[in-house]
Amino acid sequence: MRKKVVAGNWKCNTTVAEGIALAKEVNDKVTAQDVVVVLGTPFTHITEVVKTVTNKAISVAAQNCAAEAKGAFTGEVSAAMVASTGAKYVILGHSERREYYGETSAILNKKLALALENNLTPIYCCGEALAIREAGTQNEYVINQLKETIFTLSVEDFKKIIIAYEPIWAIGTGKTATTEQAQEMHKAIRDAIAAQFGNEVAQETSILYGGSCNAQNAQELFANPDVDGGLIGGASLKAGDFNIIINAF
Ligand code: 13P
Repeated sequence: MRKKVVAGNWKCNTTVAEGIALAKEVNDKVTAQDVVVVLGTPFTHITEVVKTVTNKAISVAAQNCAAEAKGAFTGEVSAAMVASTGAKYVILGHSERREYYGETSAILNKKLALALENNLTPIYCCGEALAIREAGTQNEYVINQLKETIFTLSVEDFKKIIIAYEPIWAIGTGKTATTEQAQEMHKAIRDAIAAQFGNEVAQETSILYGGSCNAQNAQELFANPDVDGGLIGGASLKAGDFNIIINAF
């Protein structure tokens, strides 16, 4: 059975003290047993948040890692460094990183390889901009993102990946994909995985929805057969809302 996952992406929010307080609140609230909960914190917070979290259901993620293993890359944080904090996951390919920091498929392939070498589980993000959705070519666009990156992995490595579909037009806009739009894309992604790696692998891959998913709409989104959870931005900064989302399956 594929895993249900609710991952928070705190983005560039909270001080260390605020992050610890938020992690503690989530840690104390979560009682769900069958959901993998992930806290995607800023790099500066990871070590402290790992120490704060005692709830077995909860793991910690970085929001990025360097495309190089180590060396003279001022300001970068390597996958090995992330792993050495006790974090188990890393979010890769978020649209904000693609858009504002020029992350290409070639860069993401280097990051994916380093994350996997260091036993981090990548949460790989994909998703189309509004113009692509309006042109009706979103399925081809997203499947092409996968083909250029995670579909080049070996089947053994691919099985370690969690996918997050995040339509860019729904991120932080309060505009959510309809449940039909989410299900249609998630099914297209699963069909593409089946074509590439076989149906058994496709059935085991967790595909999360992200983009204005919140305490009000999570239940409807998660009820779709191919939606296995969420990657949550704004609503992950409030422990109460985040816990409602965790309990929305
Ligand atoms: P919002 O939930 O704030 O729309 O952000 C979604 C997201 O980008 C999670 O990675």
